[in-house]
Amino acid sequence: MEVHVSDNPAVECAAILREAAEAGAHIALTGGSTPGKAYELAAGADWSAATLWWGDERCVPPDDDLSNFRLAKESLIDRIDGERPEVHRIRGERGPHTGADDYERQLRETLGEQMPRLDVVLLGLGPDAHVASLFPGHETLNVRDRVAVGEDEAGLEPFVPRVTLTLPVLCDGRHIVFLVSGEGKADAVERAFAEDREPSRDAPGSLVRPREGRMTVLLDEAAASRLRL
Ligand code: 6PG
Repeated sequence: MEVHVSDNPAVECAAILREAAEAGAHIALTGGSTPGKAYELAAGADWSAATLWWGDERCVPPDDDLSNFRLAKESLIDRIDGERPEVHRIRGERGPHTGADDYERQLRETLGEQMPRLDVVLLGLGPDAHVASLFPGHETLNVRDRVAVGEDEAGLEPFVPRVTLTLPVLCDGRHIVFLVSGEGKADAVERAFAEDREPSRDAPGSLVRPREGRMTVLLDEAAASRLRL
C-alpha cells in the first residue's frame, strides 16, 4: 500500500484515471461528494477504449441528485469530447436486490463467469470508515460468493438502500485507489490505513487490501493528519 499526501489529491487521481482510460481499462468509479473534481480533470483523456463500472449506487433513478451515476455523468461522461467509454451503470432504481442481480450479471457476462477482475477500483472512505456501500458491522461484509449485493439499510446518510460490490471483488482489483480528503475523514483514515491497526469489521476500509494487485491511497493533509507516515 502506498500513501500519497498532497494539497490536491484529485490531480493524481485524475492522472491515474486518464492513464487507465487510455489503456482501455475497466474502471470502477466511486460516488459521494469527493471525486467530482478528479472526474472533471480526467475528462480530457481519450476514453474511447475504456469501460466504466461503479463500486456502489444508491437506489434512486439515474437522474436523481443522489445518484452516483449522475455525478460521473455530469462531471466526466458528458464532458468527454471524443468517443465515449462503454458504460455499465448500476440500475439502482430497480431496488437493491434486483439491482444487484442485474449488475452481477453485467459484470460476469463482460469480465468472465468467475470473480470479475477490474483494472482500477476507485473508492472513497466514509467518516465511519465505510467503503463503497459496505458499512461497519453489516452482513454484506461477510459475502464471499457474490459479485454485488443489495443493502437495505445504509449505515450513513443518505439513508436509501444501496447496491454495492462485495469485498472479494474490491480486493481483486488490479489497482485499488482511495481518494479521501478533509478533516472529517482523519479518524476514518487512521482506522482504515494505519499500519499498526488490525483489519476490523468496524472499519470496512481496513478490509480492502489488494489480493494480487496494488493499492494507492491519495489523501490531503487534513485527511492524513492522524496517520503516522
Ligand atoms: C456512496 C459512496 C461512498 C463514498 C463515501 C465518501 O455512494 O456514498 O460510494 O462509499 O465514497 O461515503 O463519500 P464522500 O465523498 O461524500 O465523503
